[in-house]
Amino acid sequence: MSTYIFILGKEPELSKAELAARYPTLKFLSEASEFVMMKLSDDFNQQEFNHLGGQIKAGKVFAKTNKKELISLIADYLLADHDSGKLNYGLSVHGWPEKNLRFLLLGLKKEFKTRGVSSRFANQAFKNISTAQHKGLAGGLEILVCKELSDFYLAEVVAVQDIDSYSKRDYKKPFRDMKVGMLPPKLAQIMINLTGSDGVIWDPFCGGGTLIMEGLLMGHDMIGSDINEKILKGAKQNVEWLKKEFDVKGKVDLFAHDATRMVPDKSFDAVCFEGYLGPPQGQLKPKKELADVLGELTKLYYLFFDSLKTADFKGPIVIGLPFFRVKEGEIFLNEMIHGVRLMGFKKELDLKYARQDQLVGRHILRFRL
Ligand SMILES: C[S@@+](CC[C@H](N)C(=O)[O-])C[C@H]1O[C@@H](n2cnc3c(N)ncnc32)[C@H](O)[C@@H]1O
Repeated sequence: MSTYIFILGKEPELSKAELAARYPTLKFLSEASEFVMMKLSDDFNQQEFNHLGGQIKAGKVFAKTNKKELISLIADYLLADHDSGKLNYGLSVHGWPEKNLRFLLLGLKKEFKTRGVSSRFANQAFKNISTAQHKGLAGGLEILVCKELSDFYLAEVVAVQDIDSYSKRDYKKPFRDMKVGMLPPKLAQIMINLTGSDGVIWDPFCGGGTLIMEGLLMGHDMIGSDINEKILKGAKQNVEWLKKEFDVKGKVDLFAHDATRMVPDKSFDAVCFEGYLGPPQGQLKPKKELADVLGELTKLYYLFFDSLKTADFKGPIVIGLPFFRVKEGEIFLNEMIHGVRLMGFKKELDLKYARQDQLVGRHILRFRL
């Protein structure tokens, strides 16, 4: 086992929940706002990291130290495997203001010079290394300097978010329908991880199939249904494309179904979906103008949960419901959530995912009967 640091995505609570659900037997050794630390087996690698949607980078910890020792310890580590030629590297700091990079990088440059090594850091304008820059390190290492209280943890980056693959999955798939709304692949991965299941997952509002695709890439067998046959055809095209472009091992079953009707006679271990979000909201409205949409969505999801209750489904149910930004603040589907709890479903998780400027965000919940 080794200690790893995870640099969390833009919704840190969701990122932490993802790690806790994917690695349920492991504990966070420390928890800061930007990163967490946990012990994982030594074969943790980029391939496993690619299944995590809420993490930006992972680093393997090689030292715990104080501010005075930082430069010499980083220099020792970077030189340990260095043969000859120019030493390329990058540094990123977390839990500590980025402006500290200036003294670290200039201090290291001086240290290398004293040790007779010519070096070049990849940081631009004394800013952290972005995931895109990480790729350009040309064999050089990126070191994370993470501060927690008065301790500093040093880690070598072993995996970073594969932004090219995410953008291929998001933008290159053949069927995209902006009107229906599309789940970002990273959020789909987070939601799948939040189920804590490694079995078959049913998405009853599958739309163009983002969740289905991500589930397949993560090795799940996936079941997807949607009320709209045209959209379902799009999901099938997307899955065919995925099979050609990526290494997909899981099985998939896509069919038309109204989620408010009886649960289909299929076997699944978890339910996971981003539901119907209502019509697109073009501008910030007063709360009262959303009354009809709220009523429609409340009924839709209430009926869906009622069908799960009738089927006595006991597995995890991870859902992304819409929440709306209105002139008076934010509105959630609270009446529906309350009704579902009265049916006997326990709410295990309650988190939000939204950009600052979005009128409709996602309210991520996990229920279980
Ligand atoms: C926001 S979209 C889901 C998008 C999907 N997560 C994706 O990324 O492509 C919601 C979907 O719910 C479907 N839908 C609406 N009412 C439904 C119902 N009663 N039963 C099943 N699907 C329904 C719509 O046809 C739409 O495709």
